[in-house]
Amino acid sequence: MKTFKNKLAIVTGGGSGIGRSLSMGLARAGASVAVTDIHEDRAGQVAGEVRALGAEAWGLGVDHGNKEAAGKFADQFISEHGCPDILCLNAGVGHGAPLERISLEDWEWVLGVNLWGVIYMLHHFVPKMIERQQGGGILITSSIAGFSPLPGMSPYCTSKYALMGLSESLRAELGAHNIGVSALCPGFINTNIVKNGKIDLRDDKGASRSGDVVKFYATKGVSPDLVARDGLRALRRDIGIMPSPLHAWPQYLLHRLSPVLYNAVLKFSWKRGFPFGK
Ligand SMILES: NC(=O)c1ccc[n+]([C@@H]2O[C@H](COP(=O)([O-])OP(=O)(O)OC[C@H]3O[C@@H](n4cnc5c(N)ncnc54)[C@H](O)[C@@H]3O)[C@@H](O)[C@H]2O)c1
Repeated sequence: MKTFKNKLAIVTGGGSGIGRSLSMGLARAGASVAVTDIHEDRAGQVAGEVRALGAEAWGLGVDHGNKEAAGKFADQFISEHGCPDILCLNAGVGHGAPLERISLEDWEWVLGVNLWGVIYMLHHFVPKMIERQQGGGILITSSIAGFSPLPGMSPYCTSKYALMGLSESLRAELGAHNIGVSALCPGFINTNIVKNGKIDLRDDKGASRSGDVVKFYATKGVSPDLVARDGLRALRRDIGIMPSPLHAWPQYLLHRLSPVLYNAVLKFSWKRGFPFGK
């Protein structure tokens, strides 16, 4: 995809964080943007910010983890706006807890939004993109947790690893239709993901670590604008896998070079409170 000019894009979970930055970046590059979010007011607010840049934008309330809502949204969108050129499948929820304190409902919630939310969008929109034979681009927001394990985050890692398999398989398959597929793999980013997520991590004495996790993301997390910039570069140049920002790369490379060493380091540091401190 050489340019985003005059393209029609959908950004899921665009009401905050990385999705908001992706929406703004696409608009600056000349695309029209449909911003979706489970919080319709947030989607509307970001759509307003996008319009202030001079681009066409719509803010739409959609629960991407709900099969019926996702299907209804797709039908309505296609009948009103036609087939999109760009899908940024970004809506996601944060979760952190050890296995023994995770309810089945929480497993379903995380996989429902982070994985099934992406599957529903692909299911409804990609056949239309193939049919019209004009190519397109898909950016799936995975995570560093999609290529390297993180203890205390097993549902989240499960969902993001699945997204890597999904995006790499589709990358080969949809290449035949001139549709690029890339996976954006953010590290620690200062967004609302932790504040709005479900965190039940505790220290050795059983005290909650939620505050430490929120503080870690707020102080050590980087701006979502940097990640969106890398994501849009991956989309435009069809890069495939895009760890972002710079701090995500050592983890990516170490895990690829030696999963054994990576896991040994992780086990050692997790016992010592990594990454949130003792
Ligand atoms: N922040 C990070 O450190 C980080 C790291 C790696 C990956 N990610 C991924 O980036 C993506 C964006 O997250 P973010 O960090 O910008 O968080 P965020 O919370 O700021 O934004 C996520 C948005 O998704 C929306 N959302 C949640 N559930 C939804 C649903 N069922 N339907 C529609 N919208 C829904 C939220 O309302 C929110 O506006 C997620 O997929 C997340 O897993 C984030």
